[in-house]
Amino acid sequence: MRILFASAEVSPIAKTGGLGDVVGSLPKELAKMGHEVILFMPLYRQARDWFERSGEIVEQTLPTTQILWANWAAEATFFRATLPGTDIPLYLVGNNHFFNRDQIYSPRPDGYDDGVERYAFFCRAVIRGCELLSIAPEIVHAHDWHTALLPAYLHSGLRTSDAFRSTRSVYTIHNLNYQGIGSPAQFAAVGLHSRYWAPDALEHFGQVNLMKGGIIFADQITTVSPNYAREIQTPALGAGLDGVLRSLSFKLTGILNGIDMDEWNPATDPHTPANYEAGQLDGKALSKHSLLDEARLRSKPKRPLFSFVSRLVDQKGVDLLIPALGHMLRAGANAVILGSGEGRYETALAQIGSEYSERCRVWIGFDNALAHRIYAGADLLLMPSIYEPCGLNQMYALRYGTLPVVRMTGGLADTVIPFDGTNEESANGFGFVMPDPADLYTAAWLGMLNYREARVWKHLQTNAMAEDFSWERSAREYESTYQRAMGG
Ligand code: ADP
Ligand code: GLC
Repeated sequence: MRILFASAEVSPIAKTGGLGDVVGSLPKELAKMGHEVILFMPLYRQARDWFERSGEIVEQTLPTTQILWANWAAEATFFRATLPGTDIPLYLVGNNHFFNRDQIYSPRPDGYDDGVERYAFFCRAVIRGCELLSIAPEIVHAHDWHTALLPAYLHSGLRTSDAFRSTRSVYTIHNLNYQGIGSPAQFAAVGLHSRYWAPDALEHFGQVNLMKGGIIFADQITTVSPNYAREIQTPALGAGLDGVLRSLSFKLTGILNGIDMDEWNPATDPHTPANYEAGQLDGKALSKHSLLDEARLRSKPKRPLFSFVSRLVDQKGVDLLIPALGHMLRAGANAVILGSGEGRYETALAQIGSEYSERCRVWIGFDNALAHRIYAGADLLLMPSIYEPCGLNQMYALRYGTLPVVRMTGGLADTVIPFDGTNEESANGFGFVMPDPADLYTAAWLGMLNYREARVWKHLQTNAMAEDFSWERSAREYESTYQRAMGG
C-alpha cells in the first residue's frame, strides 16, 4: 500500500512529546513490511535548525506554490528530505508566516491563536503537494487535531482529483483533550462548504472542532491503546466527544504504540555513559553514579533514585506529584526531574529542587539526551498521569530496567503490571488507582521498600527488560486497519 502520513511532529526533527516519536518510528516498520510510506510535516524554524545542526540534506523540491482555499491564499515551499536513517521520503511544507516561530506551537506574534488557520493551511498544502508531485496515496493517515482536516477534505469531493481517486483515510487520536477548537469565524479559514458547519460535522457547541471532523469523516479511527479506546467512550474521559465516539465505535480500534527499539536501546545508547542489557547491569550502576554526579546529588548512591521526565501539564499528574514529592524525599528517596510546560508547575518543582537540593535535582527544559541518561540512570520512573492515551516514557523506562510507578489509566494500565507482594513472576512496576497524592506516595513507598529487597527487585527488573514493545505487532494491526479502511 502507498501510505501518506501527515503530522505536526516527526522525531527527531521536531517533537514536543510522544506524537513525534510515534510518527518518527511506525513508518519504519511499515516500510520494512513492504509498504511505501511518505511523510509530510511543517517546516518549523525548529526543523530548519535541526537540519542545519545534523547536516542531513533537505532541498526545495518544487517552485514556491500558491495554496488557495476559501478566501485565503498563502505560499507553500515544499522541501524534500528523508526520515533520518531511512530512505522514506519526508516532505516539509515551508511558510514563514505560519511556521517560523519561537516554539512549534507558538501563537501569532500578536498573541492571536491561529492554530486552526495554520493547520488548515498545512493540510491544504499536503493535498496540493500530492497533486503536484503525483503522489496518489491509497491511505492518508492523519494524526491528532492538527491534521484532522484531511479526512474531512477527502470527504468533501476531493476524490474527483486524480491523486485521491481511491484514497481512504485513517485518523489516529493520540490525545483527545487537544481538539483544535476555534471560533465560528475561524470556520471560514477551514474552507469547507457551510454544510460542514453542523453538529454531525465540524460544529461542536457553537465552535469549530477539528478533532470532531477527523473522527466523523475518517474511514477508520484508531487510538493509541486498547484501554484508552474504551475510556474515551465514557463521559469521564471522553472530553465532550464520547457520544460521537460511542456512535462510531464500529470504526474505532485501540492499537498500543510501539517504541523505536534502536533509539531506545540500553545496549547501544550513545547518550548514556555506559551500556548494559538484562542480566548484565553493571552499566546501569555506572549510569546511576554518573547521573547522581550530573545532578550534584551528593547523598548516598544506595538511595532509590526516582525520576520524572514530562511535559508539565495537568494531564501528567503534576498536581499529585508536587505534594507527594516532599514526603518521598524525607522518607529517604532521591529524585531527578526533567520537564517544561506550565509556569506554575515549573516554579513549584524548581522550589522543591532548591528546598531539597541534597536529594532532588530539577531541570526545567527539553533535552532528549538527558532524558536518555535519566531512563538509564534512575531506579524508578514516576508517571502519576490523570489520563494517559498510551505513554511512551514507561515503555522506555521498562526497557532500561527502571521500574515505573504509574497511575493505572489508559495505556499505563495496558503496559504496567503492578507488584502486589505476590506476583513477582509477572510484575514489572508499581501502580495506584485513585488520583490522590497519598495513593501516589503509597505506591512510591512500596517501590522504595522493594528496592531494598535485592532478590525481588532483580526479578521485577528482569520482567521489565523482557517486555517486547517493538512495533512489529502494532504495525500489523495498522495494516489490518488500512485494509478495513479500503473496504477489505
Ligand atoms: P506525551 O506525548 O503525552 O508527552 P509520552 O510518554 O507519549 O507522553 O511521550 C513523551 C515523550 O517526550 C518521550 O519521548 C519523552 O522522553 C519526551 N519528553 C517529555 N518531556 C521531555 C523533556 N523535558 N525533555 C526531553 N524529552 C522529553
Ligand atoms: C500523546 C499522549 C501519549 C501518547 C502519545 C503518542 O501525546 O499524551 O500518552 O503516548 O501521544 O501516541
